[in-house]
Amino acid sequence: MPYYVQLGSLPPKRHTRHETTPGYRNEGIFYEEVITTQGFSRAYSIVYHLRPPTRVKHIEPIGMRPLQAAPQDVLRHIHLKTGKIEAAGDPITGRVPLLFNADVTMSRCRPAQPQQELYRNARSDELLFVHSGQGKLVTHFGELPFRPMDYIVIPKCTTYIIESDAESAQLDLLVVESHGDLGFPPRYLNPDGQFRLGAPFCERDLHAPSTLRTIDRNEDTAIVIKDGDRWMRYVLANHPFDAVGWDGMVYPFTFNADDFEPITGTIHQPPPIHQTFQASGFVVCTFAPRMLDTHPMAIKVPYAHSNVESDEVLYYVRGQFGSRRGVELGSITLHPHGIPHGPHPGTILASMPMQRTDELAVMVDTFRPLHIATAALSLDDPNYPFSWLD
Ligand SMILES: [Fe+2]
Repeated sequence: MPYYVQLGSLPPKRHTRHETTPGYRNEGIFYEEVITTQGFSRAYSIVYHLRPPTRVKHIEPIGMRPLQAAPQDVLRHIHLKTGKIEAAGDPITGRVPLLFNADVTMSRCRPAQPQQELYRNARSDELLFVHSGQGKLVTHFGELPFRPMDYIVIPKCTTYIIESDAESAQLDLLVVESHGDLGFPPRYLNPDGQFRLGAPFCERDLHAPSTLRTIDRNEDTAIVIKDGDRWMRYVLANHPFDAVGWDGMVYPFTFNADDFEPITGTIHQPPPIHQTFQASGFVVCTFAPRMLDTHPMAIKVPYAHSNVESDEVLYYVRGQFGSRRGVELGSITLHPHGIPHGPHPGTILASMPMQRTDELAVMVDTFRPLHIATAALSLDDPNYPFSWLD
């Protein structure tokens, strides 16, 4: 998780009486909520609310929404043309699940309307990659502005609403739900928990909420909660965004892909140099614009490879992808375990005079095989497995 942050009003000692400041209509003290991970053993935050966060008035089921795996009678490379999926729903209801396994679910979302209700993912950390659009993620931690090419990391159990700026472009998201922990590669951190000097980004590139939005509203407020396949609606007796202060190391934050400082070499460097996040059962890498290899005989696109214990997902965001033909911006390719993949015909020789690439792509490599969701079938390019023929 990121570094320690504090914002707003805090008592000098944790777990001590925190007197209300004048102007709030509560009972005279602020109420502590301690948000812990891995039991009480890992990162935590302490939030001070106007009212207890436990005031539930009503619970109703919304329904079970299990992911449906499409029948796959053969193992093959997949190309999903997701760049032009129709806008639908809101930033939560408009999510279209495409690929999933026991560790991760990947969806695309092009919402047609603003988020209608507060939302909380009770089971999974969420990683939203903002392909286009800008606005704010609002939580009880405060307002977190986001812009294109931001990763927004939202710890599980964080209630949020996404507000798009009125003049902003169509909000277009890649949504990655991590059912285990989502964090940074441990090799990027020194024993003191600070990003090493050689890491491709550091604390200055991570942006936490910097402005509280304290809503003093003692009225019924609904939250849609997703817990795995179960969806439900909780009605609280007050608005949950009533924090006056918090501190700790569990909070939503952004990291912009254009702040990734690529590591390059004289010859081709393997994908781990692009790694950005590490999760249980998968990694996320950022293929950022960069100088290409400098050896005079270097082949500047990846070698064909059989990554026999991993399924490789690439989401094509911006620029011309040097090793690919036929993919579009917004395309998603899945190169699964068990069959090799590599540069498309003509791209090896075409790469040799190039000095840099402007490509930007997000890669999600999973260590367990992925299922294709039924919703992905209509986006499938059936000719993709044969696209390596001359
Ligand atoms: Fe690959």
